[in-house]
Amino acid sequence: MLVDGQACRSIWLADDGVRVAIIDQTLLPFAFEVRHLANFQDACAAIKDMQVRGAPLIGATAAYGLCLGLYDKGVEADLKKLADGLIACRPTAVNLRWAVERMLEHLQVFPREKWLDESYAEAGRICEEDVQTNASIGRHGAKLIKEIWAQRGKTGPVNVLTHCNAGWLATVDWGTALAPVYAAVQEGIPVHVWVDETRPRNQGASLTAWELSKAGIDHHLIADNAGGHLMQHKMVDICIVGSDRTTATGDVCNKIGTYLKALAAQANQVPFYVALPGSTVDWSLQDGLGEIPIEERSAEEVLTIQGQNREDGKICRLALAPVETKGFNPAFDVTPSALVTGLITERGVCPAKKEGLLSLFPEQAWHG
Ligand code: MRU
Repeated sequence: MLVDGQACRSIWLADDGVRVAIIDQTLLPFAFEVRHLANFQDACAAIKDMQVRGAPLIGATAAYGLCLGLYDKGVEADLKKLADGLIACRPTAVNLRWAVERMLEHLQVFPREKWLDESYAEAGRICEEDVQTNASIGRHGAKLIKEIWAQRGKTGPVNVLTHCNAGWLATVDWGTALAPVYAAVQEGIPVHVWVDETRPRNQGASLTAWELSKAGIDHHLIADNAGGHLMQHKMVDICIVGSDRTTATGDVCNKIGTYLKALAAQANQVPFYVALPGSTVDWSLQDGLGEIPIEERSAEEVLTIQGQNREDGKICRLALAPVETKGFNPAFDVTPSALVTGLITERGVCPAKKEGLLSLFPEQAWHG
């Protein structure tokens, strides 16, 4: 996507062909800084500390992390150890495991001396495919937005509510939940986005609002608690969110707070769609609530908040609660498939059901 007129992705290979460039997302929207990951530890730290985040981007970074590990260790590299180290960085988004396993599978047919070149080639392919996949999600999702616009006689903007950041910053490019918005706007359909702030880390306020501002798309930031009220007052036409892991049966794990929005959407007959690439489906799982590991992050993220001092421009962290108060910070929740109107994938839109997913991904039927 464009940032101040320049085409930009969230991750790319540096000119030296070894290091990996990322945008440090912990500093947005206040500063746009590119960091270079120079070794395996840098890649792991970038994922753990959320300089990169969002399921598909975590996967792409892990793929390049494996390349950096091979670059560090040469032919002595212990591939399994590198892979395990990367997979342990964040537990919920399954794209991390998917990307690492895809890298291992690719390398296994080559002799060790070829691993380095082959790993960079495969990581590059993972990134390019992610861009194409998300562009397809955009095309399929834009049709839903177009239908809503047509139903209301092509008047007024279509109001989309989204949670967290599932835009291009969460992927290599385009995004998942925001891809339909970008595609619809490119087709000339007026769209307005309600952006959930997404406490505790505020990815909506800091990342989604930044992306939409850069793209010139009309939006309002809302407190997480406002969505139900807006839906009751018919101010939301469609909810579109992303996913970090979706079961074979269509249960959707996404950023904490997604479930509450799905409940409000169902109570108010607002369509609730989840946009995700096939790599986000964990075909081995049937029951999202019981089987998906939920990342628990530092209580500090709940007890404090990051912002910018408007007077001196400094980025600072402020306390929100008494020092003796304890915080609890589950980072994701599971929305049962019954609350999901449909899944928007790169292969089309389907019901959030096993049969729906298998109709689009029949090659996965062997999972049983
Ligand atoms: O903790 P984060 O910022 O990595 O969580 C991101 C989300 O929950 C996104 O909605 C999800 O990864 C889908 S992204 C395309």
